[in-house]
Amino acid sequence: MSQDILSLVGHTPMVELRSCSPKPGVRLFAKLEGQNPSGSVKDRIVAYIIDRARREGRLAAGQEIVEASTGNTGIALAMIGRRLGHPVRVVVPDNAFGDVIQTLKALGAKIELAPARLGIKSAIDAAQEIARGEGAFLLNQFDTEDNPLCHYETTAVEVIEQLPDLDVFVCGLGTSGTAMGVGRRLKEHNPAIKIVAAEPRPGQYLQGLRSLEDGYMPPIFSADRLDGKIVVSSANAFRAVRELLRREGILAGLSSGAVLHAALKWCQRLENGKVVMLFADSGWKYLNSPAYALDEQIDAEDDGLDEVLWW
Ligand SMILES: Cc1ncc(COP(=O)(O)O)c(C=O)c1O
Repeated sequence: MSQDILSLVGHTPMVELRSCSPKPGVRLFAKLEGQNPSGSVKDRIVAYIIDRARREGRLAAGQEIVEASTGNTGIALAMIGRRLGHPVRVVVPDNAFGDVIQTLKALGAKIELAPARLGIKSAIDAAQEIARGEGAFLLNQFDTEDNPLCHYETTAVEVIEQLPDLDVFVCGLGTSGTAMGVGRRLKEHNPAIKIVAAEPRPGQYLQGLRSLEDGYMPPIFSADRLDGKIVVSSANAFRAVRELLRREGILAGLSSGAVLHAALKWCQRLENGKVVMLFADSGWKYLNSPAYALDEQIDAEDDGLDEVLWW
């Protein structure tokens, strides 16, 4: 029995995806972050950043918290802010899914819309302005070392406990906090483990993920912590989401589709190995997206051009 919803953050399950394995010697495992209380991996970093800021006296009781987010961080912040008595304001790009806005409203967050065509940087600038001008605490997920540190101290430790002899770790790139923090700890555990990130094609939109070519490099990102990066088209991510439904009965988020596609791409060069994928959220928010319009074909675009970039 848990005394508090916040004690349910993290400790997510890992499951083997036997029906997705591309060859007998290659085994795929998914860490299901959608099982966090507000439905995504972002509960981890929001709880961690707020807890540290409160303990260090940088965040006062009842102080407003503001952040730029395309969805999951905003929802996690709205939930945790509500629980801890902090009003929350989220700057959301105006192409966010309707359900995201509804969820933020239900949790009592104030919403400021930023033009999506100006990129995430303009939403971050707006959040910074609110923090400066109105005395709100800026969560600052793109810039604070607490973001990767949280994954270093929690997510990665769980992965090592669940599958100590893993060979490859694959996740999506948004703020890059997951890849940076989990990557650092896994390399300390075993330097041979490969850290691979999935990102969308420039100009394409996959909820939660960002192309680093789109003009904003998160300050916490460091390319030398990755062994490879795989650029995934939306069409291939959507197809992978459908395969997860069909083969495994898993209702996954769009970035999880991109991660599965990237993992399968990486597996083409493996004969044996254990591959852990981080599925950042589940599919509920995306039921109105083309990935889940199951009676419609996914637009072509399968030109085989998804690239593997090596460092
Ligand atoms: C659905 C989803 N997948 C992946 C990510 C990427 O995680 P990170 O910000 O740690 O790079 C995010 C968040 O940005 C997300 O919301």
